[in-house]
Amino acid sequence: MDGNGRWARKRGLPRIAGHSAGVEAVRRAVEVCARKGIEVLTLFAFSSENWRRPKQEVGLLMELFMTSLQQEVQELRDNGVRLRFIGDRHAFSAQLQDSIDAAQRLTAANQGLTLVVAVDYGGRWDITEAIRKIARHVACGDVVPEEITPELVRSYISLNDLPDPDLFIRTGGERRISNYLLWHLAYTELYFTECLWPDFGPQQFEASLAWFCTRQRRFGQTSEQVEQSEGA
Ligand code: IPE
Ligand code: MG
Repeated sequence: MDGNGRWARKRGLPRIAGHSAGVEAVRRAVEVCARKGIEVLTLFAFSSENWRRPKQEVGLLMELFMTSLQQEVQELRDNGVRLRFIGDRHAFSAQLQDSIDAAQRLTAANQGLTLVVAVDYGGRWDITEAIRKIARHVACGDVVPEEITPELVRSYISLNDLPDPDLFIRTGGERRISNYLLWHLAYTELYFTECLWPDFGPQQFEASLAWFCTRQRRFGQTSEQVEQSEGA
């Protein structure tokens, strides 16, 4: 979700105003997903590198994160949304960590949209954690090196119980992944838009879905093979 700062600057507002407007865009995106029956939406809210921002901005982002979570969690629960968080988070305040745990518990039994929020998340961190855990299991003899397959590695990575994302959307005009879901995005369709995140609404979401529908997913096969199996 990129472009909050530029959205604010264009209006002569402080950056945090852009982040607040970004929360509204999150609300709209969640509504679109719920309406369309999209099963999983994962939001990149704060990366492991975002700690490098000015202290004041990081502090305000944490506050905004806390208040938004507290304000939205009941409504999300009532709308069948299951909230999940991925990322390190040990550097968060105890209060924020508690709120995150509580929100996950409160919505755990919901059957609607799974809303994953990546906070203090980095794709390299995720893969590194997986390697550490596998190494521990190898060291104690629970796993032998020959058993380490892509499927086994996947089982150690965040969101291993969910399908890989079909569509990745990056707003704000940059064309990079910025250490997001590195493992998961191997075959994801990548959509880049100039639209700044606070301006990203249902129309922009629809446009990205329409673009996605034009893509042929081949997963390494030829188009002839794909067309044949689609016709079958
Ligand atoms: C939001 O956009 C991303 C967050 C880490 C919350 P930015 O804050 O990166 O916005 P720009 O890139 O400065 O416009
Ligand atoms: Mg940015």
